[in-house]
Amino acid sequence: MKKRVAVIGAGPSGLAQLRAFQSAKAKGEDIPEVVCFEKQSNWGGLWNYTWRTGLDEHGEPVHCSMYRYLWSNGPKEGLEFADYSFEEHFGKQIASYPPRAVLFDYIEGRVKKAGVRDWIRFSTTVRMVKYNEGKGNFTVTVHDLKADRMYEEDFDNVIVASGHFSVPNVPEYPGFDKFNGRVLHAHDFRDAREFAGKDLLLLGSSYSAEDIGSQCWKYGAKSITVAYRNAPMGFKWPDNWKEVPKLVRMDESTAYFADGTSKKVDAVILCTGYKHHFPFLPDDLRLKTANRLATNDLYKGVAYVHNPKLFYVGMQDQWFTFNMFDAQAWWVRDAIMGKIKIPTDKKVLVKDVEDRVKHEDAGQDAHDAIHYQGDYVKELIAETDYPSFDVDGACEAFFEWKDHKKQDIMAFRNHAYKSVITGTMAPVHHTPWKDALEDSMESYLRN
Ligand SMILES: Cc1cc2nc3c(=O)[nH]c(=O)nc-3n(C[C@H](O)[C@H](O)[C@H](O)COP(=O)(O)OP(=O)(O)OC[C@H]3O[C@@H](n4cnc5c(N)ncnc54)[C@H](O)[C@@H]3O)c2cc1C
Ligand SMILES: NC(=O)c1ccc[n+]([C@@H]2O[C@H](COP(=O)([O-])OP(=O)(O)OC[C@H]3O[C@@H](n4cnc5c(N)ncnc54)[C@H](OP(=O)(O)O)[C@@H]3O)[C@@H](O)[C@H]2O)c1
Repeated sequence: MKKRVAVIGAGPSGLAQLRAFQSAKAKGEDIPEVVCFEKQSNWGGLWNYTWRTGLDEHGEPVHCSMYRYLWSNGPKEGLEFADYSFEEHFGKQIASYPPRAVLFDYIEGRVKKAGVRDWIRFSTTVRMVKYNEGKGNFTVTVHDLKADRMYEEDFDNVIVASGHFSVPNVPEYPGFDKFNGRVLHAHDFRDAREFAGKDLLLLGSSYSAEDIGSQCWKYGAKSITVAYRNAPMGFKWPDNWKEVPKLVRMDESTAYFADGTSKKVDAVILCTGYKHHFPFLPDDLRLKTANRLATNDLYKGVAYVHNPKLFYVGMQDQWFTFNMFDAQAWWVRDAIMGKIKIPTDKKVLVKDVEDRVKHEDAGQDAHDAIHYQGDYVKELIAETDYPSFDVDGACEAFFEWKDHKKQDIMAFRNHAYKSVITGTMAPVHHTPWKDALEDSMESYLRN
């Protein structure tokens, strides 16, 4: 009997997993039967944009956290697939910070070429996964949303690739219930034009606050106030942008901050991060971790220490994204196919996690964090046949990116970097980011 493997989610992580198995098959290896369950009607995960918020047409929580005018927030040279370059996909080198539609097209191009679409059961939500002690396998219960039918199937391995930037972390502050404007989480933010001419308050001091604030600024917000809980982002902001200490309370129209200042605002956007949330996993299988580089309970960052037949891909906080998911997916494939042996002594698995946590904690700054995750990617790809690439070169692109943000936060996307896969330099985009209000794929590729 062939092994059966379930993959939960067809976002970049789940698709990396399908491509990993397909590449072994293309080399003549005997691969397991792979079934991917995806609750949306298309692949791409967060990159599968929708205007919808709240619940979808089937009453399922909308997965998408991306917004209309989102452009990559890091250089594409840091995430390029080692087995499928941007030049191979677009037939030419393209600029370094593609808008979401361009990255979606790139992600899709590789899996279309691999021919794995029929491995995926779309519009199918995984409702529950149960481990069967006696049989040593898993029963997966799913809901086919179109046919409105629930059914169960058994699998030897389960790979959770359901993402962790979709279920919002929503704090409450005194006075939200009295405020006359709109309070929304970044997960539900879609079109920056809604806030043109408005005074906006954003909570949080990470990527969402930076990028949603920048978008709203670009599309004509009157002012941006960002309240930080611990530390400000500290960039050189435009004149109508201010960072203030944390929010204390609000009334009908005004926000009051910890330094005694206040600001009248029209809307509040909570850029307060996301939760690792797995409603389909029981206590014995459910990963519980903070959003960090060394997650809890994952041997090699992927195998669940309490049951190493269960794997998680893409659960780390992310400097590296697509190429790290690939490194993980190739490793998981080889563990499932028996080419990599996972130690049977649980103490060894737990010690691996403890060492990773210590190593991450010993880092001082973002520079160390980028190196830490780069080394992790190198460690995994050294153990598989994933094409090796210049990971240190990709780290360099991230360091340059950080410097460019420091120089001018509204202009960092105008820079270009060198591909570590093909060695070619990206062209400089034809229009500075702040002026490029039209950001369709056709427009972006007109270089
Ligand atoms: C606003 C925002 C912007 C970002 N921008 C960038 C960027 O510019 N560059 C970058 O590299 N990364 C960016 N990221 C990071 C992003 O996490 C990764 O690029 C990538 O999408 C992660 O892939 P994933 O497959 O792990 O998760 P996801 O993309 O979240 O995909 C998970 C998939 O699992 C499916 N799923 C979930 N639950 C179930 C279930 N129960 N049953 C069946 N299917 C299920 C979902 O529908 C989804 O398709 C951004 C993230 C956010 C939130
Ligand atoms: N254009 C893009 O590509 C783009 C845009 C947006 C997001 N992203 C990606 O999306 C992912 C998530 O980013 P994120 O910024 O949403 O989440 P995040 O990085 O986890 O940051 C969450 C922020 O919320 C703050 N916070 C948490 N609880 C809070 C509370 N109760 N009150 C006030 N502040 C609170 C945190 O503050 P402390 O620092 O004080 O803990 C932190 O600053 C990242 O991978 C990012 O790269 C990409």
